[in-house]
Amino acid sequence: MKKKNIILIGFMGVGKGTIARGLVQSSDMFAIDTDDLIESMQNQKIKKIFEEHGEPYFRNLEKKTALWLENSIDNTIISTGGGFYKQENINKIGKVIYLKSSFQGILDRINAAPNAARKLKKRPLLQNLDEATTLFDSRVPDYEKVADIVVDVEKKPLEKIVEEILGQI
Ligand code: S3P
Repeated sequence: MKKKNIILIGFMGVGKGTIARGLVQSSDMFAIDTDDLIESMQNQKIKKIFEEHGEPYFRNLEKKTALWLENSIDNTIISTGGGFYKQENINKIGKVIYLKSSFQGILDRINAAPNAARKLKKRPLLQNLDEATTLFDSRVPDYEKVADIVVDVEKKPLEKIVEEILGQI
């Protein structure tokens, strides 16, 4: 049977966690986040996991998380790390929603946050903006390919984004 999870994908800083929390408030669903699951499984922050074990190790933890989600979770909103869309089984986990924004829109969103410096610092792949731009450009076509639904989130209030998502699922 087709699973009823909703999976939010998109680039770092686009607002996946915030939108997941908005969806929780406006529905009877509960939310989990793949980075949070990995951090608690490892008892280490993502930044530390990258520093101590490297990116391939982290991707392996994402794979393990993806298999667990497929086998064990239903009726849940799942926010993901920006690279989680690469998991081969992602479409088996549930309905995939790509939260779309330009790179500049994402930077504006991060910079508008009161804790902008922390938001940047905790993300190893956002440390070098040129590299992050290249990563963004290379990922956009794949985000669109994997998605069942694309929602443009740039410069939109949270309530409007939540309303659009709930109207489309
Ligand atoms: C990553 C995004 C991060 C986190 C890790 C790698 C990526 O999550 O999973 O730093 O590859 O884009 P956010 O999208 O929540 O920042």
